[in-house]
Amino acid sequence: MTTKKLYIRTYGCQMNVYDSARMADVLAPLGYVPTELPELADLILLNTCHIREKASEKVFSEVGRLRPLKQAAEAEGRRLLIAVAGCVAQAEGEEIQRRAPAVDIVLGPQTYHRLPELVRRAEGGERGRGLVDTDFPVESKFDFLPEEAEGRGPAAFLSVQEGCDKFCSFCVVPYTRGAEASRPAAQVLAEARRLVAGGALEITLLGQNVNAYHGEAPAQAAGGPASWNLARLVRALAELDGLERIRYTTSHPSDMDDELIAAHGEVAQLMPYLHLPVQSGSDRILAAMNRRHAADDYRRIVERLREARPDLALSSDFIVGFPGERDRDFAETLRLIGDVGYAQAYSFKYSPRPGTPAAGTAEQVPEPVKAERLAMLHQLLGAQQQAFNQATLGRRLPVLLERAAKHPGQLNGRSPYMQSVTVAAPDRLLGTVAEVEILESHPNSVKGRVVAAPQPAAASAA
Ligand code: 5AD
Ligand code: SF4
Repeated sequence: MTTKKLYIRTYGCQMNVYDSARMADVLAPLGYVPTELPELADLILLNTCHIREKASEKVFSEVGRLRPLKQAAEAEGRRLLIAVAGCVAQAEGEEIQRRAPAVDIVLGPQTYHRLPELVRRAEGGERGRGLVDTDFPVESKFDFLPEEAEGRGPAAFLSVQEGCDKFCSFCVVPYTRGAEASRPAAQVLAEARRLVAGGALEITLLGQNVNAYHGEAPAQAAGGPASWNLARLVRALAELDGLERIRYTTSHPSDMDDELIAAHGEVAQLMPYLHLPVQSGSDRILAAMNRRHAADDYRRIVERLREARPDLALSSDFIVGFPGERDRDFAETLRLIGDVGYAQAYSFKYSPRPGTPAAGTAEQVPEPVKAERLAMLHQLLGAQQQAFNQATLGRRLPVLLERAAKHPGQLNGRSPYMQSVTVAAPDRLLGTVAEVEILESHPNSVKGRVVAAPQPAAASAA
């Protein structure tokens, strides 16, 4: 089999990062090996995001930039295939091939197990609509994926749930990713075991609405419930030897059930950090967003989580300039942020998405108002993040060293609270959890020094 080169560019959320890795896995049997350089590629795959307008525009400009590469390859007598996958592919389907004829294959997020077949046909010279696959098939792609081609490093993602039935009025996810579906618990546990065997010390469970997880219970759990919730899954994962850290993202406040809150207090491996988007602090806007809870419900959930796990660090997403948002609504958002205190957060200007209910509402907020509110949010959330980082000064935290830092001789990792931590450390500490004293605090990161590190594997085996 000849070796061919695959270049993948991933946009958007961590679920796309996971999907990209799995698409590389399904293409490995066809002889595709990853490359970092698009110039060398035989297949370029753009895994796209449709969540906000800017995100989807990037796809068309990127395809435009790739066209000369395709022409250059053709001039050399080589075929360069371009595939667009992910949520823009799902939403725009044939429109992409029409607007961007350089694109050979269009593939939605639920059909990437069919990618090898599409690639084979494109390699054989087929063109056109037959290479657009944006079905929501009855079969689950997870039942057709090969085992991972290689380990995914010390901090791995594992997709457990996908799609969403919440229909927040601003959001495309229920349309692009489809109805909510959970993977069977046994399948998740098997993948987790393989990840740990491949060197993962941390697993982040992924789902658009991950705390709504309700996967089929493993067969040996006969007599127990027919399905497992996220708390049950987390407890089972915590029993895997060698798995030191568990995280999950993204959660919806109304699915934060008692068992999951209790798990935060009882499961040591569950890291004290939670991304729990609230979007707005105004009850009027929350209702218009169809979020299904009030601001005080969210405050109470946070209070209960912190009773269970007092050092829990929180993060959230916020949208400013949702249709109808007035100054007093925005003031409520600022008040909620002040009450909760975030370790980090993401904020976005509302972006009308075609086909979503809010996009058609009359009371769109003018751009300068959105910009002003976004700047205020950035300032407040930035100050909270800085205060959080400062509060860790002098503390000793276990840091999972995940990668080489920018400067030689330094490594980068994450604290339990998801802070980005840089330390001077030898490469042999990569993929280990070291105890780090935090010495410097910056707006988006901290620096420290290693005070205790695991022994090299050879020494500890002796
Ligand atoms: N406009 C702006 N932000 C949005 N998000 C989702 N849809 C939109 C939109 N139409 C944000 C939400 C969500 C995050 C992933 O993206 O805050 O939590
Ligand atoms: Fe979108 Fe999240 Fe709302 Fe689902 S819960 S519709 S993914 S914002």
